[in-house]
Amino acid sequence: MSLVEACRPAPAGPLVGVSDRPAGGSTTTAARDAGLRDGAGSLPSDYRATFTKVNKVRFVSSGHAAGRWDVDVWANEAAQKALASRAREAPVGAVVVQEHYEKSSGLAGPVMVMEKRAQGYAPEHGDWRWAIVGSQGQLVRDGVVDSCAGCHDDAPMDGLFPIVE
Ligand code: HEC
Repeated sequence: MSLVEACRPAPAGPLVGVSDRPAGGSTTTAARDAGLRDGAGSLPSDYRATFTKVNKVRFVSSGHAAGRWDVDVWANEAAQKALASRAREAPVGAVVVQEHYEKSSGLAGPVMVMEKRAQGYAPEHGDWRWAIVGSQGQLVRDGVVDSCAGCHDDAPMDGLFPIVE
């Protein structure tokens, strides 16, 4: 797959482009706060307390179903340093969490996680682990997710796209 094809700003698969939210919007107030639930253990549950928010102002995602989501990006120390220095390699243990909010309504969408694992975890995809937690806090995917890696493989910083602060 060419770079252009892989990273075209369009829904790259149901996980990125299509909401898991039932038509008619949220039924719970908790859904407004997807980041605080732990997605069956796949999210670092206290990331909002322990991670750094990378972006100052919530911005429109260009990579994930372009135009649909406002996003916030949180990074643990290792990931934050890698992002800030535009490192060519991310250190093992780096974790980045991207929260998605419907631009139209502000309602919480999925929370997406990347975790740099030890060498050999997924050598063909930079040893990143992927997790997607749905708007209701449910675990959607966890592991090596081809639809995510297919685009992030082409990112300039060892699988990471720069986040404008
Ligand atoms: C079509 C390309 C594309 C696909 C597919 C894609 N991403 Fe991204 N991703 C991006 C871009 C571009 C950014 C930079 C911020 C933005 O525009 O959302 C990003 C940012 C991120 C970040 C913040 C870390 C960083 O790279 O800056 C995480 C975490 C993330 N994506 C997870 C995922 C997961 C999980 C999937 C699979 C469900 C996925 N992405 C699929 C393009 C993509």
